[in-house]
Amino acid sequence: MRLNIVCIPGDGIGPEIVSEAKKVLNRVAEKFGHEMVFTDILMGGASIDVHGVPLTDEAIATAKAADAVLMGSIGGDTNTSPWYQLPPEKRPEAGLLKIRKALNLFANLRPAVLYEELAAACPLKEEISAAGFDILIMRELTGGLYFGERKTVEENGVRKAIDTLTYDENEIRRIAIKGFDIARKRKKKLTSVDKANVLDSSRLWRAVVNEVAKEYPDVKVEHMLVDNCAMQLVKDPAQFDVVLTENMFGDILSDEASMVTGSIGMLASASLNDTKFGLYEPSHGSAPDIAGKDLANPIATILSASMMLRYSFDLDQEADAIDAAVKKVLQDGYRTGDIMSEGCKKVGCKEMGGLITERI
Ligand code: IPM
Ligand code: MG
Repeated sequence: MRLNIVCIPGDGIGPEIVSEAKKVLNRVAEKFGHEMVFTDILMGGASIDVHGVPLTDEAIATAKAADAVLMGSIGGDTNTSPWYQLPPEKRPEAGLLKIRKALNLFANLRPAVLYEELAAACPLKEEISAAGFDILIMRELTGGLYFGERKTVEENGVRKAIDTLTYDENEIRRIAIKGFDIARKRKKKLTSVDKANVLDSSRLWRAVVNEVAKEYPDVKVEHMLVDNCAMQLVKDPAQFDVVLTENMFGDILSDEASMVTGSIGMLASASLNDTKFGLYEPSHGSAPDIAGKDLANPIATILSASMMLRYSFDLDQEADAIDAAVKKVLQDGYRTGDIMSEGCKKVGCKEMGGLITERI
């Protein structure tokens, strides 16, 4: 199979981790007889430095023409980087929001899994973590507060900022359908998270989710208020399977869920539209403090590449091979600094990528 993959190395540790993922993918191509063609595009600070904008129209066109996109991370230190002296629409993050919208990537899948081998890094009490957990946060990614109208005005000498939270039923329905489809392939439970005791957008969300649920009688659906969900994620994470929620709540809850696993450097993510196309990226950020020092953990990006093979190309065997190689490396006791524990062997980004590649 010929796979046309666009890569966005991006900023901070992005280039290092993407380079390790490419190494792994090239090994998969060799072993399973595929041809992978990689084309890099600039986004975020890297694009600002060259083009003055965080994402050019040409870069979007290149991404659109690909079968899938593999991204590292974008953005810099918001306190010190000159990128954050620019107006908001010219900063690195604007590139990410623009590509999500341009490619219609409305469904963001963020798995939060407790790895057996890394259970010691889980910050929860042992009696809670002992149950293990495997949560899939499904975050709506192209609507809500992120894309509503916003402005800052001055009225009678008082500055006032306005952001708007809008959802129409079609936007809710399409993500709900994806959520139920995926829940059906997992443990058949879907928790829809909203703030229906306050927000109209949440009341519509809940109503539409209930309508869609009628088509999936085999999936157990429950509704949970977002503040309660934040609490339940640390109190009893094992209760969750698929957590379906809107953009802003999903942004916050997915960070919480990933932290609760104790190994954010391990977590992949996928952003999908209504075709096979997707953008895959680690759940963590660009970690500018350790960039270029060969200290980053490339595993989340490597597992994102595995998700890409699985969801965009239906190459389950190849994806399984990557997941198994990652598991094996952990069992063999290799760790990057972020997941290091006593008795293990500490390795850098490149060595970790190499060790995984060797095991495929
Ligand atoms: C994420 C990030 C982005 C978001 C930022 C960088 C705009 O936090 O992917 O979760 O808020 O969506
Ligand atoms: Mg976030």
